[in-house]
Amino acid sequence: MSFNKKHILDIGSLSHEEITHILDTADSMKEISERPVKKVPTLRGKTIILFFHEPSTRTKVSFDIAAKRLSADSISISSSGSSMVKGETLIDTAKNLQAMRPDIVVMRHSSSGASNILSKVLDTSVINAGDGMHAHPSQSLLDMMSIREVKGDLKGLKVAIIGDIAHSRVARSNMEGLKTMGAEVIISGPPTMIPIGIESYGVKVTYDVNEAVAGADVIIMLRIQKERQENFLFSTEREYSKTFGLNEDRLKLADPNVLIMHPGPMNRGVEISNEVADGPYSVILEQVTNGVALRMALFYLLAGVS
Ligand code: CP
Repeated sequence: MSFNKKHILDIGSLSHEEITHILDTADSMKEISERPVKKVPTLRGKTIILFFHEPSTRTKVSFDIAAKRLSADSISISSSGSSMVKGETLIDTAKNLQAMRPDIVVMRHSSSGASNILSKVLDTSVINAGDGMHAHPSQSLLDMMSIREVKGDLKGLKVAIIGDIAHSRVARSNMEGLKTMGAEVIISGPPTMIPIGIESYGVKVTYDVNEAVAGADVIIMLRIQKERQENFLFSTEREYSKTFGLNEDRLKLADPNVLIMHPGPMNRGVEISNEVADGPYSVILEQVTNGVALRMALFYLLAGVS
């Protein structure tokens, strides 16, 4: 299949066939990271700019490693280290970066829609590495890759997404992606953290976490995003952990072969206990490993070398 997307801005604009093609490509990229020499010349001569306006460990490092494993030249800049601190606008900064002829710009930004704006003013390909509460497509794709790797197929799986749905770009992207791929998605968390009308994504909603966990094939726990909460949306962390957190007792309700996932960073002891995060059902670090292969696949496909 030829891949004719110029940008990766969200999951909703990708078809079942396009997601499958990205995941198949990522599967084939994974082996490169197992080699003694973890590098292929595929993107030699290509330039990739990583433009991060928000803190990141996993996404930024894995995009950077992905570029280097494909022999592209990657350059990282942050808002604090750029001329934006002197008052330059995002669009002017981006146009100046484009004037240096990169092939792909990867951007993380705290404002929803920032990557979409960039894609309209730049000629180069743009990958959204997370924009506000809107979308985190590469995270959703690596999550689907990680599920598919163990379960074989996403179709028909019961996937519970639990926690701070309102502030989560990961939840939005996963709802869209998993629904496109035929999974049954159930959302749970405190009523204050579940937006009204979320059912329009085709997901079920329950405020009873036990109901969401019961028989789940996959459980995706979300971080309480303290930095995005203007109001108190839950009483105490202790209360949150007891009512909505995933612990070993609650986990017994899930399918015996359940996968436990978390996009990170985790609030250990709040949304997930140490025993579950580090336990036998957790694929949290496999998600991070797969993030490199998935981002290699995105670079490969967007660079038009397939
Ligand atoms: N999952 C994720 O986006 O993590 P980072 O914020 O560390 O990139």
